[in-house]
Amino acid sequence: MAIISSKKQPQEPNGQPKKQPQESEKASSHQELLQAEAAVDEQGKQEESIRPQRFADYIGQKDLKDVLDIAIKAAKSRNEVLDHLLLYGPPGLGKTTMAMILASEMGVNYKITSAPALERPRDIVGLLVNLKPGDILFVDEIHRLSRMTEEILYPAMEDYRLDITVGKGSSARIRSLPLSKFTLVGATTRVGALTSPLRDRFGLVQKLRFYEVDELSKIVLRTAQLLQTPITEDGATEIARRSRGTPRIANRLLKRVRDYAEVKKSGEINQSIAGEALQLFQVDPCGLDWTDRKMLSVIIEQFNGGPVGLETIAAATGEDTQTIEEVYEPYLMQIGYLSRTPRGRTATTAAYKHLGFKPPNEQMSLL
Ligand SMILES: Nc1ncnc2c1ncn2[C@@H]1O[C@H](COP(=O)(O)OP(=O)(O)O)[C@@H](O)[C@H]1O
Ligand SMILES: [Mg+2]
Repeated sequence: MAIISSKKQPQEPNGQPKKQPQESEKASSHQELLQAEAAVDEQGKQEESIRPQRFADYIGQKDLKDVLDIAIKAAKSRNEVLDHLLLYGPPGLGKTTMAMILASEMGVNYKITSAPALERPRDIVGLLVNLKPGDILFVDEIHRLSRMTEEILYPAMEDYRLDITVGKGSSARIRSLPLSKFTLVGATTRVGALTSPLRDRFGLVQKLRFYEVDELSKIVLRTAQLLQTPITEDGATEIARRSRGTPRIANRLLKRVRDYAEVKKSGEINQSIAGEALQLFQVDPCGLDWTDRKMLSVIIEQFNGGPVGLETIAAATGEDTQTIEEVYEPYLMQIGYLSRTPRGRTATTAAYKHLGFKPPNEQMSLL
């Protein structure tokens, strides 16, 4: 395998480093525990050692696995390469993991890169000409490809051909170079930001969904076994409940709870130790963090439950609108605390109850 680029720092689309939350307001370091994006220390060996290597170890995402299982078997039986595949969904749900598993199930090599590392045409050309038949090229954050890179990819994806312009001005000519048949696996958190010609060139487009608590419990138990950490089933469930439907967060919380259990207790993680530790780290019983709670309480306290525009929510929390839309809202909607209406976001009765406010209909009945 070749890692072409290490993961970039989170950046705004304009290339500016991502805005840092105001320290004074935020519960600072605890906040990061619940971020679904990989932290710097997770990009190296640590995350790799617990990443599932085979289909059988990849827990949940049944629909995705069913579709890919058929695609793999069909491609193998016809001795063809796998169709180009686009995986989309919030960070930490297993897109990169699935790309690696596909390569091992197909018995091929893979290369990993990320759109921001493919700025110049020669970056992508270099990768494409070095692919061997059947290889998988994984492009993370594929919605951020530059226009030129994208245009090189069109004939490469469609006809396994590289079109290079030779010469300049009126004497410029296009020369075509054959490429090995390969599979492009693209991953994105923003499928809507892909251009349609690019999206149309993927034979398979699959969404990853948030995980159920029982699936996350299995992931926690599996990781605990790999880390040789004793844990009870209810301890795993407690961590799973607070993981925002996201395996990466589940694994991260497990590591923090393991530290707590080793230092403060006998070592085995059970439900009460997990609960105690996560309370200490300010992870709420539903896995909500400061920004989630702030978003909901602004909607409830200042706008009577909504609807409230995205910009207003962003201003109140100090997050940018894109992060709110891609990271915070999907999970709040998934657990039924937030709904999106054409006029803005509204907080649901469940959100009122979770934050300890009286839901509006109950307030009415008291009058
Ligand atoms: N289905 C799964 N089963 C077990 N562990 C998983 C699964 N999906 C993700 N993980 C764990 O979560 C971590 C993050 O997954 P990753 O594939 O890097 O997410 P993404 O690329 O979608 O941001 C991985 O290191 C892996 O350990
Ligand atoms: Mg990834």
